[in-house]
Amino acid sequence: MTSFLSHTPWWKKAVIYHVYLRSFADGNGDGIGDIAGLRSKLRYFTPDSLNVDAIWLSPLHPSPNADWGYDVSDYLSIHPDYGTLAEFDKLIHEAKAQNLRILLDFVPNHTSIMHPWFREAVADPTSPKRDWYFFRQPLPDGRPPNNWTCKFGGSVWNPAENAPDKVFYLSSYLPEQADLNWRNPEVQTNMCKVLDFWLSRGIAGFRIDAAYRLMKDPDLQDNPLHPEHTENNSPTYTEQIHLHDENHPDIPKALAMLQSTSTHFQGVLLGEVFAHNQEQYALYYGTTDTPLFDLVFDFHLADAPWDATAFKDVLKNSAKIFPTHGWPAWALSNHDRSRHASRYDPNDDYPERTIAAAFISMTLRGTPILYMGEEIGMRDVPIPPPKIQDPLTFQVPGMGRDMARTPMRWHSWKENEGTGFTTGTPWLPEGDAQETRDVESQRTNPSSLFHTYRKLLMLRKSRYSLQTGNLSLVDSSSDILAYTRTLRKEHTHIAVNMGTTTLPLPQVFSSGTVLLSSDESLPTGTIAPQILRAGDAIILAQ
Ligand code: NOJ
Repeated sequence: MTSFLSHTPWWKKAVIYHVYLRSFADGNGDGIGDIAGLRSKLRYFTPDSLNVDAIWLSPLHPSPNADWGYDVSDYLSIHPDYGTLAEFDKLIHEAKAQNLRILLDFVPNHTSIMHPWFREAVADPTSPKRDWYFFRQPLPDGRPPNNWTCKFGGSVWNPAENAPDKVFYLSSYLPEQADLNWRNPEVQTNMCKVLDFWLSRGIAGFRIDAAYRLMKDPDLQDNPLHPEHTENNSPTYTEQIHLHDENHPDIPKALAMLQSTSTHFQGVLLGEVFAHNQEQYALYYGTTDTPLFDLVFDFHLADAPWDATAFKDVLKNSAKIFPTHGWPAWALSNHDRSRHASRYDPNDDYPERTIAAAFISMTLRGTPILYMGEEIGMRDVPIPPPKIQDPLTFQVPGMGRDMARTPMRWHSWKENEGTGFTTGTPWLPEGDAQETRDVESQRTNPSSLFHTYRKLLMLRKSRYSLQTGNLSLVDSSSDILAYTRTLRKEHTHIAVNMGTTTLPLPQVFSSGTVLLSSDESLPTGTIAPQILRAGDAIILAQ
């Protein structure tokens, strides 16, 4: 068994921890998380602590921070808020010494409009850099060059201020983020050099931002509209079918280049993808002979409500949309959406749901991506208007991501110390002073969520079926999510009661023995119970 599994790539068996660097730990007291802070917390990830295999860092390059780092102005350097290249090298070195891999966030779809490439392109219509982006003249009546709409609202086209020829440029996100033209060979070469630069410093791979927009229709044709769109001249993002601007069939051409650079260093590529069907997901995996992304996010689970039927549908769908050689990455929370502790339990009435969610996310077929603070049950933090930092909120009132990006709570709130994130004033509020979910309190409490994650991670590492086994759903009451992970002769059963009443455990699980249960009165090794209380989760060995 060991030799069979030793051929399995590390990232299939791994759990990756997503560090939102700006909010993780502040090493210099300026209220902003940084590399020094992260280095001081590396012990948090070791096997005798949380026990994760890799960390993915949110963008740490120089950036005017119009989208908090997702608007890069220099791909080959470190933002002074976060430290220096020398400190980054030390981080890699120290992480390696404890077998912890580091993944960086790579933003290939767009640069900041402050990037020297874009500035040159705007200033000089004859510059070859003009073709590195999408510059077009408006239509004769002054309307934008096509009807594409931006995910963050409005047209994707913006007038290029300071351009002598009054052109428009394309921006799929904020106007401060200009889309690169990946059909241009120099763009390809330069972006592959970026991968090369960081991989040769010893990182283990990248999370690839907005990969589903990397190639667009070469003629930039208008998108068709949904049949039920409202009759007006400016259809919204959701009123369009994103045929020509997302999940374009030429995307594999761009990915093949990234993959060949990455393969050279045995790097892993994790794609941020929003695809709609099997055909579109297949674009990102390539074939067994020519693989593209190693891992692709399946966000359908994060989009589902706390409901067993909805979760079962996602797992059935995932089995359909991912080719057999494809390997999904699962995240219940991230820096772009409300934290799942708040989504599943808006009024803080069902704390057992965050425990049950941990049982699910650590036992699915695929690689779990654990978002900073999820392991202590961090909830969304309400942000008072004067403290808002997310530019999206100013662009689209009512939208915003700050609530999920607040500082890590290292200890309970103390006068002059806050929650241990910074000695200065935190860039985003740390949240309620009465909040008791924090690392220090949970580390000393063996019944805490932190310890549940630890136990789940240990179990995952000790059972091959949980790492790479198949997943088959098991018939159960409608409020029970039940599945079996199987590798050769090893079977692991998982059942979660997502309803509000006690329910029978599926019959086929009755001969199993308990590996881990959220009900602490059921110790390891005892025979499977016949019932599962509301909110309980159980893992059984067959
Ligand atoms: C996805 C990132 O996760 C999000 O934070 C960012 O705003 C967009 N991509 C644009 O880069």
